[in-house]
Amino acid sequence: MEHYSTREPSAPSRRREIQARLRGKVWTFVTDRGVFAGAGIDPGTRALIEAMRIEPTDHVLDVGCGYGPIGLVAAHLATRGRVVLVDVNERAVQLAADNVRRQHLENVEVYGGDGTQPVRGLIFDVVVTNPPIRAGKTTLRRLLREIRDALRPGGRLYLVARTAQGAKTLAKDIGAAVGPVREVAQAAGYRVYEAVREDPER
Ligand SMILES: C[S@@+](CC[C@H](N)C(=O)[O-])C[C@H]1O[C@@H](n2cnc3c(N)ncnc32)[C@H](O)[C@@H]1O
Repeated sequence: MEHYSTREPSAPSRRREIQARLRGKVWTFVTDRGVFAGAGIDPGTRALIEAMRIEPTDHVLDVGCGYGPIGLVAAHLATRGRVVLVDVNERAVQLAADNVRRQHLENVEVYGGDGTQPVRGLIFDVVVTNPPIRAGKTTLRRLLREIRDALRPGGRLYLVARTAQGAKTLAKDIGAAVGPVREVAQAAGYRVYEAVREDPER
């Protein structure tokens, strides 16, 4: 089966709508074949969305946004902030952009590209990610370093991983790359971590 992280999925498009209640609001998302969790919100994604702390003025980056559920809920919470969504899968990027329009959210931008490359040089208060675990350790560690560089000192990373897919080992990598890490939620076999970027000046 083709992996959803491919830039141009070969599976013929078959768009559909899914619904989910997230942070107390019912959301409708357009999804498709060839993107992650096209049939319905992933349980790990849901755990992350319910656990993430987003303040009204936060500038938020969603790395590996898929069709956009995490970033769009973040945009709904960051009423006076700004949210940027990035994914390497062009079909996911198109879906996320369509979902932004359908939700009438005006504080969101969506870019295609690898990791934080499309926003290089910008600094965020929060990064959220349900990362591409199957991309392997080398890629994950590289993404964690890029995420650290995109966070202001004191900024927060929220990341979800499946316990059975090495979440605890990944937590150590997060601690090493970003800063102090703690588990903020556990649900349906997933763990949600919050890491705070250390101030390099201290
Ligand atoms: C586990 S899925 C999560 C998708 C979405 N955030 C959600 O929760 O439904 C990981 C996403 O990362 C994307 N991805 C994989 N490698 C990437 C990379 N190097 N840079 C940016 N996105 C990447 C995949 O295309 C996929 O959409």
